[in-house]
Amino acid sequence: MEGKRKVIIDCDPGIDDSLALLLALKSSELEVKGITVVCGNVPTKQGVENTLKVLELTNSLHIPVYFGEENPLIRELVTAQDTHGEDGVGQCFFSKVQGGIVRNGAVDFIIESLGTEDKLSIIALGPLTNLAKALMRDKEVFNNLDELVSMGGSFRSHGNCSPVAEFNYWVDPHGADYVYKNLKKKVHMVGLDVTRKIVLTPNILELINRLGGEVAKYIIDITKFYVDFHWKQEGIIGCVINDPLAVAYFIDRSLCSGFSSYTEVVKDGIAMGQTIVDVEDFWKKQHNSVVLQEVDASKFMYMFLQRLFPESAEVIANIKGVI
Ligand code: RIB
Ligand code: CA
Repeated sequence: MEGKRKVIIDCDPGIDDSLALLLALKSSELEVKGITVVCGNVPTKQGVENTLKVLELTNSLHIPVYFGEENPLIRELVTAQDTHGEDGVGQCFFSKVQGGIVRNGAVDFIIESLGTEDKLSIIALGPLTNLAKALMRDKEVFNNLDELVSMGGSFRSHGNCSPVAEFNYWVDPHGADYVYKNLKKKVHMVGLDVTRKIVLTPNILELINRLGGEVAKYIIDITKFYVDFHWKQEGIIGCVINDPLAVAYFIDRSLCSGFSSYTEVVKDGIAMGQTIVDVEDFWKKQHNSVVLQEVDASKFMYMFLQRLFPESAEVIANIKGVI
């Protein structure tokens, strides 16, 4: 498709992954060649079910979904079902989607796609297990990769599953570190420093509720549980939505600013999963990352809402005191 950027979205849906998929599927700049699901927030099987629900909601069931790795490279899988609900979408327990294209072999699909598609990028919204496995199997083919944008890590913000570690890289620190050390391209790290500033506040949720329609109802339904978790866990009113920013940044670089550096991921011990960002270049190692530090949260939110609700773009643009 002329002018569109080709992407594979690798994800672990997950409430914020589901919102990120909505944004990607409603963004005309992207041609989603496939969605690969990885273990993370929920077991991979559940992630596939949740992905199909978003595809059904956006009339995109023609996009193939690939079943990926069910366990991290070395660690035991630790899910985030306390945060995202047992079903990964806020305890909604949606009925099983009829139809859709589900195939095995996410790692094979990534490798084959990189070998056949020019200028293909990957937006990774979960642990990097699928990507690490693909890189281990065929490092050469990744020379064809256009860009990798990964929601994960943290530069100066505190962790969300340990004092220093962000969930995606804590679930599979070996996978994350392998990708950062072997991709030979810079990973665009959309970490907690920027994603923590992306909050669905009660006012924004009420706006979504009033915009109405199936997509609005889906968002309200899947975020209820998440909002409760944020209050209990972090004393936040509303909920942080990490993954949609990775999609939005891929589309519009002006949303975030950051810097180039060498980054590696701590694989074990008390700081397991921490991203060590050598911002002062102590180690003089080749830079393997673009670390994002600032975000225009308001500009993101207008973009997010106007793409999800294009028919209400003007209402959203003119709303006062909400965004
Ligand atoms: O730390 C936040 C990340 O971990 C998000 O991608 C969320 O979906 C979970 O996967
Ligand atoms: Ca995720």
